[in-house]
Amino acid sequence: MGFTDEIQRRRTFAIISHPDAGKTTLTEKLLLFGGAIQVAGAVKSNKIKKTATSDWMEIERQRGISVATSVMGFEYHDVKVNILDTPGHQDFAEDTYRTLTAVDSVIVVIDVAKGVEPQTEKLVEVCRMRKTPIMVFINKLDRPGKDGFELLDEIEQKLSLRLTPLSWPINMGPKFKGVYNIFDRNLYLFEPNKQRVEEGIAFSDLNNPFLVQYLGDDDTRTLREELQLIEGVYPEFDVSEYLRGDLCPVFFGSALNNFGVKELLDCFIRIAPKPVGRETEERFIRPDETSFTGFVFKIHANMDPNHRDRIAFVRVVSGRFERNKPYHHVRLDRKLKFSNPTAFMAQKKEVVDEMYPGDIVGLYDAGNFKIGDTLTEGELLHYKGIPSFSPELFRYVENADPMKSKQLAKGLDQLTDEGVAQLFTGKTSGRKIIGTVGVLQFEVIQYRLLHEYGASCRYEPINLYKTAWITSDNKAMLDDFKARKASALALDKDGRDVFLADSPYALQTAMEKYKDIRFHFTSEF
Ligand code: G4P
Repeated sequence: MGFTDEIQRRRTFAIISHPDAGKTTLTEKLLLFGGAIQVAGAVKSNKIKKTATSDWMEIERQRGISVATSVMGFEYHDVKVNILDTPGHQDFAEDTYRTLTAVDSVIVVIDVAKGVEPQTEKLVEVCRMRKTPIMVFINKLDRPGKDGFELLDEIEQKLSLRLTPLSWPINMGPKFKGVYNIFDRNLYLFEPNKQRVEEGIAFSDLNNPFLVQYLGDDDTRTLREELQLIEGVYPEFDVSEYLRGDLCPVFFGSALNNFGVKELLDCFIRIAPKPVGRETEERFIRPDETSFTGFVFKIHANMDPNHRDRIAFVRVVSGRFERNKPYHHVRLDRKLKFSNPTAFMAQKKEVVDEMYPGDIVGLYDAGNFKIGDTLTEGELLHYKGIPSFSPELFRYVENADPMKSKQLAKGLDQLTDEGVAQLFTGKTSGRKIIGTVGVLQFEVIQYRLLHEYGASCRYEPINLYKTAWITSDNKAMLDDFKARKASALALDKDGRDVFLADSPYALQTAMEKYKDIRFHFTSEF
């Protein structure tokens, strides 16, 4: 197969949702339909949490929370599907944001009873900003839930999305009969826990009197009325609008019951975007450029407890990535060669000789990579759009074992390179401050420092509300600010100035008083 064909047949996406909406179950069912896993009988979702690729870390197994992001690739009808798993736990939201930089589209799962939940709002906002094409899957139709139209209104309002349903449910909960697939004009009838997937019954004309045989008088009438309403209210589906991120198709189903999943997947591989290019600071990179380029969006340590290396996950943006070929690590200005580039399939990983745009390649790394690093064939490029967010929780970190200070320094350095947390050093005190977006990370850091680096740390409270990176063209004002606020200044790992505001008031007054200073809340400026 030619280079262009290889690119064209790839679909790289993530499934996002509020915890418990059914992301894991849907992922598992997609893998099932893709033939990537074989499971007999209905599988409870926590099975995949225990057995699938997203559970490498010890701590994760202990807590039963998916703290890692992994990649699951599979082939379906000659399409290479790459699902990037995102951690469900909100404390790892930043990990999810970064994963979203490596996908070309997303599927948002919404629980029909709960509607739009906070985590969904945050994640969709990131997608909306990036104009990532979105498909919506409304899950758990086998349970009583919100009325279809009300739910669509809620999604449109809370998520600021323009929707158009491509399937429509016939009742829900105990009376759920199935969905009418508007996209393919087929009727799919629901049978709980059915493993076999029935073909849809073609009903291109809903006025066909035979419909009553399947749905009865009342439900037939309701379906006809509702579909008429949909036609009048919602825009006609247009693939190019979807691909621009301006229109989101909506599907209904029940992941647990395998219902609606195959239709979602079939539609997905037809309409979802092929690998798209990315902006660098220098220029836009198209996937079909022949030179390989890619960026690191995730670093994962200790996937195999017997080895101490880390794996850097690289999204291939352009060109063909080849095993054992030297590539340029732009930040370090060094050539690196990879003898074991790894591809992640559903439940296994394997060394591969080549990867194509849209693929995620795992590179064994002894500490050369940081999140956001760019690899090329020599061109000096820097991929954009992999921000660090200003953390929300802070603690001083102190060495609890004086014999292990080197290990602690190394551990903190590497863990923060992975993006687990951010590290600041107080300018006058020299004390190390760890900032995170979730409280769980403090435990993760302590645990991993001990188990991976043999270092012990102790946390001490710090009165800190927010950090802001500061820049200014007005050197005199910046110098003045730095002199007056010396005790509230720190450096981040890259040596950039950071203001430590101990209260909203302190931040506000500083911003009002020092008008020529810009206060940044993401590291991308
Ligand atoms: P998440 O990854 O988004 O956190 O959700 P997950 O798939 O783990 O699903 C959360 C719960 O919702 C699970 O139940 C799962 O079985 C259930 N679920 C998923 N899809 C459906 C559906 O279509 N219908 C119904 N009725 N339930 C669904 P649990 O009780 O938390 O776990 P388990 O013991 O069933 O595995």
